[in-house]
Amino acid sequence: MSSFSKKSYAFAIITALLTSLVLTLILSVFLYFKNSFDIKISLAFAGISFIVTFLIFQYSIKKYIFKRVEKIYKDIMILESKTNPVQNVPISADMDFLTSEISKYAKLKKQEVQLFQAREEFRKEFVGNVAHELKTPLFTVQGYISTLLDGAMSDPEVLKKYLKRADKGVDRLIYIVQDLDMITKIEFGESKLETTNFDILELIHNVFEELEMKAKKKKITLSLENSEQTKLIVHADRERIQQVLTNLIVNSIKYGHVNGTTEISVEPLGDYKLVIRVTDNGEGIEDQHISRLFERFYRVDKSGARSEGGSGLGLSIVKHIIDAHEENIFVDSKYGIGSEFSFTLPLETN
Ligand SMILES: Nc1ncnc2c1ncn2[C@@H]1O[C@H](COP(=O)(O)OP(=O)(O)OP(=O)(O)O)[C@@H](O)[C@H]1O
Ligand SMILES: [Mg+2]
Repeated sequence: MSSFSKKSYAFAIITALLTSLVLTLILSVFLYFKNSFDIKISLAFAGISFIVTFLIFQYSIKKYIFKRVEKIYKDIMILESKTNPVQNVPISADMDFLTSEISKYAKLKKQEVQLFQAREEFRKEFVGNVAHELKTPLFTVQGYISTLLDGAMSDPEVLKKYLKRADKGVDRLIYIVQDLDMITKIEFGESKLETTNFDILELIHNVFEELEMKAKKKKITLSLENSEQTKLIVHADRERIQQVLTNLIVNSIKYGHVNGTTEISVEPLGDYKLVIRVTDNGEGIEDQHISRLFERFYRVDKSGARSEGGSGLGLSIVKHIIDAHEENIFVDSKYGIGSEFSFTLPLETN
């Protein structure tokens, strides 16, 4: 017998007992005043009224309460199995089980709603960020072109200067759109990794060469610790890893102090992996920002008061690329002292 049936029987018995007791009492008093009180009649009446009341209650409970609750439960389970076909929950007649299942279901739905709300928040913030990031260079370009059209273009020197600035603004727009496009492609798995075996030390030297001028402007020294080693072959997407190194080194220069250093080291991690560290002695990052650094558009200084700054997409791309390789990236930074970004890569495969 299910616990619901047990409870409903107990309920019907108590109710029937009380009802028959009250009715018998009323009948006995009535018969007493009519001078025809008979204990046998009262007892027989008590028995019959108990049985009748019990049956009526039991029937009503089953028909009107239990059947309805069970129907609600079945409907919910059918709905659930449509949205989540793997779940195969048996339909039960146990009221305790039904109650616990329904409260589980309510909890699950609450979590789903919270997740949707968080996603919606993220989407709104993201769209707002895109608009904001595109607005600045777009207005710059529009400003220069309007000024030229308003007459400034008659001066060839101003014409050239303003066109160059407008061109820079367009470059910035293209840069943001390309970054966003890349993140989206990686997220949707459209952009497949093209992995090969290549020498990571050589790649680091190439990136150093590319960024030499940028570093020189801030008198920052770029150095590789493993200078004695000649080759270290990893298995990854060369172009993407170049992008990772470029983004990390550009950051170390952008947020580094004049006369500072950016040091790269490559060390083995177990038998099959390498860990590559990019360490600077720049301004560092306060603890409260660390957990959000890899989010799209996240910048430590949003006001733009700092002399250097981009759109906050660089580290998000870095993270996406490392994730796509199924590798890890770590950050260790101390405000005022410097930062270290490190990531792992698999060694060559034969
Ligand atoms: N090496 C570093 N030292 C100090 N702060 C850093 C360093 N690297 C990143 N940051 C902080 O993290 C934020 C996010 O970096 P990220 O590379 O994603 O964006 P960005 O450099 O502002 O723009 P983008 O790379 O898109 O041009 C930066 O705004 C900066 O404040
Ligand atoms: Mg950056």
